[in-house]
Amino acid sequence: MTAMTGEHAVEVRDLRLSYGSHEVLHGMNSSFRRNLITALIGPSGCGKTTLLRCFNRINERYDGVATSGEVLIEGRNIYEEGVDLIELRRQVGMVFQRPNPLPISIRDNVLYGYRLHTPRNLRDRAHEDQALESALKSVLLWDLLKDKLDHKATELRLEQQQKLCIARLLPLKPALILMDEPCSALDPDATEQIENLIRGLSSEYSIIVVTHNMAQARRVSDECAFMLLGEIIEQRRTEDLFVTPADNRTADYIEGRFG
Ligand SMILES: Nc1ncnc2c1ncn2[C@@H]1O[C@H](COP(=O)(O)OP(=O)(O)OP(=O)(O)O)[C@@H](O)[C@H]1O
Ligand SMILES: [Mg+2]
Repeated sequence: MTAMTGEHAVEVRDLRLSYGSHEVLHGMNSSFRRNLITALIGPSGCGKTTLLRCFNRINERYDGVATSGEVLIEGRNIYEEGVDLIELRRQVGMVFQRPNPLPISIRDNVLYGYRLHTPRNLRDRAHEDQALESALKSVLLWDLLKDKLDHKATELRLEQQQKLCIARLLPLKPALILMDEPCSALDPDATEQIENLIRGLSSEYSIIVVTHNMAQARRVSDECAFMLLGEIIEQRRTEDLFVTPADNRTADYIEGRFG
């Protein structure tokens, strides 16, 4: 895929999506900037998860989903014919509400995607070791786990599992990382750790994070998009959106009057 020189990691053009006869996204136009964190906020059911799942085309795993319009990632429309979905999912990593490490070792978890996407003859142990160390350092787990790399990942504490789920995306050098309420299963301490970690990644990665927590959106993101009934109502610098919302619906939502 061609490298993108523009300032946007994702551009959405007239994106429409329905589940059967229920249209959830109604011709959305938007863009998400590179190398910063965008928070996606909005009431339950407004389509946040659906929108994220358009960016790696995993909505299509459901029956009866119809999508039209364009989503450009790294300058290429991922909905055009002939797009390699395996390559797309290497480029676009995703972190879910509940950590979902595989029931294999810490090492094999972090290298799982990398091995899947690297032909056998191009893999070597030294390179794997380097990728493993670098990924675990990025999520601040290296010192803690470097002597336990063969332990099962599913035995780690929940927040360590979530950090690991972030770490395993990094050896793939994703163009975009999607996080769908990544702290919703975690306590406040663990949430703070994950928030700091996300902030630390933002110089190198483009990240979109869905959250129901207004304080979290404010702490963690550079830009914020408020979504309602399948449309982005307002998308601006986070501080501006929270301090001087331009739309009454944004103001009502962030002040807790609905949702
Ligand atoms: N697989 C599906 N099949 C049918 N309808 C779906 C499916 N997934 C989501 N929907 C519907 O699409 C709409 C948007 O759902 P979505 O999960 O994207 O919202 P959300 O903003 O992520 O909500 P939440 O904040 O509760 O996670 C809802 O009306 C939901 O019921
Ligand atoms: Mg959701």
